[in-house]
Amino acid sequence: MNMDLRVYDSVTSTQEVLMELSDKGAREGTAVLAWEQSAGRGRIGRTFQSPKGGIYLSVLLPLDDGLFITSKVAVAVRRAIQNETDKRCYIKWVNDIIYNGKKVCGILTQVHNNYAVVGIGINFATQLKDFPPEVRDIAASLYRYPQEADCEELDIVNAILREIDTLFSSESTLWIGEYGNASNLIGKRVNIIRSGKVVDSGTVSSIDDNCHLHVDINGTDTEISSGEVSIREA
Ligand code: BTN
Repeated sequence: MNMDLRVYDSVTSTQEVLMELSDKGAREGTAVLAWEQSAGRGRIGRTFQSPKGGIYLSVLLPLDDGLFITSKVAVAVRRAIQNETDKRCYIKWVNDIIYNGKKVCGILTQVHNNYAVVGIGINFATQLKDFPPEVRDIAASLYRYPQEADCEELDIVNAILREIDTLFSSESTLWIGEYGNASNLIGKRVNIIRSGKVVDSGTVSSIDDNCHLHVDINGTDTEISSGEVSIREA
């Protein structure tokens, strides 16, 4: 893939900007990076607070293996962070990157013009006070202050684009094992949440070759594909 990075200081949403570029003919591999967003988009129609200190990146990718796009990108982001920093991260099914038990990155895949527009929001050195109060307990940054950082934001961005290129150019499915091994949920009690409500709870047993989560609910194996479901540790 030909990765083509466009960098902006501040935008509404890198998803929106990339969709507009795609309307004007941008090809897969085009990426939009911003240091701040005024209307960041999150999963399930939520907003994604995007103050300065974060990395806000969207990448135009082929839709062909649609089911795996978000999981593949999660593997790419984890690899990039781990290679560029000394931080060990986990993937919280299905699309959050966790560092020290807190969410440091969220990933959103939207479809536009028959492409996947994959958005990656990383709390690089976002200050705690800049997080909305409701996420302060669950979100964190890779670095507490910009001065603490031992790598540049652009190093992480370039590493993500390289890893995405590698993963999306290969037929290999070895990354699926890496995705499962990176999970922080195996063996944990979780609540299954649909439309904001806890609908069930159980113990996570595995992540299968389709990146689906298996939860033991009262002795019954329940397979969960992503959809509108989210998982919270019980
Ligand atoms: C989530 O955890 O809900 C997913 C958040 C995805 C946020 C990223 S930041 C870059 C891109 N632009 C957006 O407006 N959203 C995604």
